[in-house]
Amino acid sequence: MGKVLSVASECVPFVKTGGLADVVGALPKALSPLGWEMRVLLPAYPGLEARLANRKKIWEEEDLFGGPAHVVRGTVDGTTMLLLVAPHLYDRPGGIYSVDGKDHPDNPERFAALSWAAAELAKGGGTDGWRPSVLHAHDWQAGLAPAYLNYAGTTDIRTVITIHNVAFQGIAPASRLAALRLPGHAFTSDGLEYYGNISTLKAGLVTADRITTVSPTYAEELMRPEFGLGLEGVLAARAGDLTGILNGVDESVWSPEDDPECAPYSKRSLKGKAANRERLCAELGLGDIGGPLAIVVSRLTAQKGIDLLATATDDFISAGGGLALLGTGDHALEAAMQAAEARWPGRVAVRIGYDEGLAHRMFAGGDAVLVPSRFEPCGLTQMYGLRYGTIPVVAATGGLNDTVIGATPASIRAAAATGITFHPVDGIALAGALRRLVQLHADRRTWSAMIRAAMKADVSWTGPARAYADLYRSLVA
Ligand code: ADP
Ligand code: GLC
Repeated sequence: MGKVLSVASECVPFVKTGGLADVVGALPKALSPLGWEMRVLLPAYPGLEARLANRKKIWEEEDLFGGPAHVVRGTVDGTTMLLLVAPHLYDRPGGIYSVDGKDHPDNPERFAALSWAAAELAKGGGTDGWRPSVLHAHDWQAGLAPAYLNYAGTTDIRTVITIHNVAFQGIAPASRLAALRLPGHAFTSDGLEYYGNISTLKAGLVTADRITTVSPTYAEELMRPEFGLGLEGVLAARAGDLTGILNGVDESVWSPEDDPECAPYSKRSLKGKAANRERLCAELGLGDIGGPLAIVVSRLTAQKGIDLLATATDDFISAGGGLALLGTGDHALEAAMQAAEARWPGRVAVRIGYDEGLAHRMFAGGDAVLVPSRFEPCGLTQMYGLRYGTIPVVAATGGLNDTVIGATPASIRAAAATGITFHPVDGIALAGALRRLVQLHADRRTWSAMIRAAMKADVSWTGPARAYADLYRSLVA
C-alpha cells in the first residue's frame, strides 16, 4: 500500500463549511481500493478529539506557535484520523476561521501550526512508524506544509497541493515571516511573497512537486488574470505541473435510491420524486406551482452569483416557476432573497441557515438546481442535482462547465442534454436560462429525457480517485 498524508482544515463528518470538507472526507474511502492508504490531519477543533476511538499520541512539541501541541491518532468508523491538539490555537468559540464575522487574528499561526505538524510527520517524526511517501496539501491552510519540507531540504517525500478556491490566498503581513518559521530567502517574488505580503497558498504553489485543481476548466481559467486573482503568472509558470481532476459525489450519502430523507426513486421509476416535491412544498409553505420548482443550496456570496438570482427571480416566478433557497452568508444577499420571498408568498421560500437534512429533501423534491456562479472551481451541488434528476441550471464556468451538458437542439436530439448552461454570467443571461427552464419543463418528453440523461451521468469518485492514484504513482515511481 502506498501512503499519503492529506492535510486540510475541514473534513466530513467532523467539520464542514463547504465542498472542501466533502472532498477531503471522501478521498480516503475512494483511494483505499486503489492501493493508497490516506490519513487526514485536521486541527482538533472543540469536541473533535472525543470522537476518536483508540487514541494514541504520536507526535508532540512543547511550544508550537505559543503553546504545547501534540498529534493524536485514532479511528472513526474504522478509518484512521490524525488530529493536531493545540488548545491555544483551536479550542475557542466561534467558527473555524472566524468569530462574529471577523477572521481569527492568529489564523496565519493556526494553520502554519497545522502545516508544521504535517511536515514533521512527513519527515518520519511520528512515533508510530507510519511514514507517507506523498504529502497532499489542500488550499492555503496547508500551503506551508510543502514549503516547510522544501526549506528543510527534505527530498525523500513528494508533495501535491490542490487548489479548491484561489480566492482564498492565506495572506499574512511580511513582519510575521520569522514568527511563522519561514526563512528570509523565501520572501521573494519567485517565492512566497505576494504584493508585499506572505501568501501561504503561493508558498505551496511554488514548492509542491505537483499542483492540482478541482476541474479541467478551472485549471485553464486559473492561468488567466480574471480567475487567477494575482496568481495567474505563478500558475502559468507551472503549467506543466498543473492538472484538473474533477471532484466526485459520495454516493453513500447522496443517492435518491437510498436517502433516508426522501421517498426513494431511481431513473427507472420517478414516482417518488413527484411525492418528494409535494412534501417539500408542504414543508416550505409553497403553494400551487405550475412550472418548475428551482432550488438553491449555497453559501450566499458574490462568487455564487446570488445577487444575479435576486434580480432574475421576479421574471422567473411570473413565468410560472417556484423557488426554494437554503443558505447563509452575506447579510445583504440574505436580505435580498428574503425580500423576494416577501414579494412572492407561496412561490418563493427562503431558509437562512445550514441544514443537511433539508438540503437532501430539496434535491429530492426540486425540479432544477440553480448554480449561477461567477466562478466555480468544481461545485458539488450541480452534481447532486444530476444524481437526483434535479436538472442543473449553471453558469458555463469552471467545474460547472465540465459536469453539465447544456441543452441545445443537437444535445437534445442526441438525448445527451443534462442541464441548462448560460454565458456570460450576468442577470440577463440567467433570466434567459430560467425562461428556457420553464419552456423545457413544459415539454414533457424532452424533460423526461433530460432527467434520464442526468441520472445516468457518472458523478462517482471512481474516475477522479483513479486520476489521483495515477498522479501519486507517477511521483513515487
Ligand atoms: P463551496 O465549497 O464553494 O461552498 P460546493 O458546491 O463545492 O461549494 O460545496 C458546497 C457544499 O456545502 C455542498 O455539499 C452543499 O450541499 C453544502 N451546503 C452549502 N450551503 C448549505 C446549507 N445552507 N445547508 C446545507 N448544506 C449546504
Ligand atoms: C471550493 C470551491 C468549489 C469546490 C470545493 C471542493 O469550495 O468553491 O467549487 O467544489 O472547493 O473542491
